[in-house]
Amino acid sequence: MSPPGTATAGCGSEISAEFARTRPFDGLTIGTGIHLEPKTVALILTLASGGARMISTGNLSSTQAETVGYLRHRGVQVIGETTTDRARHAADLREVIGEKPGLLLDNGGDLFLGYLSDPYPGLLGGTEETTSGRTRLRPLAGRLDVPVLVINDSPIKQFAENRHAVGLSVLESYLRITNRMTNGRRAVVFGYGACGKGIAAAFRSAHALVAVIETDPVARLEACLDGFDVPARDDALREADIVITATGADAVVRGADLAVLRDDVVLCNAGHFPVEIAVDELESSPLTRRREAAADGIATLLLDDGRRVHLLAGGHMVNLAGPRPLGNSIESMDLGFALQARCLEAIANGSVGAGQVVVAVPRFIDERVARAFLDAYGTSVTRPADA
Ligand SMILES: NC(=O)c1ccc[n+]([C@@H]2O[C@H](COP(=O)([O-])OP(=O)(O)OC[C@H]3O[C@@H](n4cnc5c(N)ncnc54)[C@H](O)[C@@H]3O)[C@@H](O)[C@H]2O)c1
Repeated sequence: MSPPGTATAGCGSEISAEFARTRPFDGLTIGTGIHLEPKTVALILTLASGGARMISTGNLSSTQAETVGYLRHRGVQVIGETTTDRARHAADLREVIGEKPGLLLDNGGDLFLGYLSDPYPGLLGGTEETTSGRTRLRPLAGRLDVPVLVINDSPIKQFAENRHAVGLSVLESYLRITNRMTNGRRAVVFGYGACGKGIAAAFRSAHALVAVIETDPVARLEACLDGFDVPARDDALREADIVITATGADAVVRGADLAVLRDDVVLCNAGHFPVEIAVDELESSPLTRRREAAADGIATLLLDDGRRVHLLAGGHMVNLAGPRPLGNSIESMDLGFALQARCLEAIANGSVGAGQVVVAVPRFIDERVARAFLDAYGTSVTRPADA
């Protein structure tokens, strides 16, 4: 059986070989709650090569059956299958916590929240991958007495994955799922954090007319100076052909917005949780006559006045939950996973202390990962002679 997809091509493979020698996780169980798609296979197997017993479950709606099959074939204990059922997913997460892992690799804060509601001795700490998870966990930092390093807050994760990779993969997903042109279309991006910046830039490079809606006036100013329109929210929605959410917030696009949306608009979400587009509100609105499955990954709401509103991937992360998803580029994930592996190694060997609860990746790890990636990435990257 061969791996389902291309595994890491950069620093991750070197870490895997190193971990097979150094065995930083010997005797430890690592619990993971991260998207189970081909690229995460490389991370999970890298940690296993370092001696860890792995117990893994996925995230809501993004688990790929082939990946689960491959991981099981390689001896990883995988809990659950693909599901969009929140209760089922919560039970899978509880099962991971029930194994009392010594390290947690979390994606969205679910595992650490599970640990807090059912604490056990022996947790050394762990990592949280996302903005959304950091937002949930930071207020609880006082109750977590172990190091928790937020991968998302590494500058490397911010520019390599959130900005460059998410931007391109959301554009790629939009094109693949809709098979429509973006040229001259009005795209409205909600959120101008790292992901929103990449998405806005990618759609502009595909010749869309891009507007940004931001609640933070500083980020709105940055979008303006980057050359994007920053109109009033409802004015932007009234003109939009494409609406993309990337905020980490709830109900950014709501049922009430149906009053202003134009016919044939496409809505999609790039944020971690499927809550940014309030799908229930859109479907139950008195303006909505019915919902049709229009094509693979596209649901169309038919409104009473004849307007059509298309929703991609049911409001789940469009670049990971739609049909034939590729997710973010292998190289960007390789960098993120190298950060994960080095952070978990640092927690296991005690070089990161208990005071570092829900904090960014330490600078020494960022520098180590950057150097390794530049070395592995090849001669196309110019390096100063003394680096
Ligand atoms: N799809 C993917 O592959 C992928 C990858 C990485 C992160 N994410 C997710 O994308 C989301 C955004 O991540 P980020 O790193 O850009 O976060 P961020 O915190 O850097 O930026 C979010 C921005 O959204 C703005 N915002 C919040 N509520 C808003 C609202 N109602 N309307 C308009 N703007 C609003 C904030 O002011 C902020 O500037 C998170 O949920 C994150 O987990 C997705």
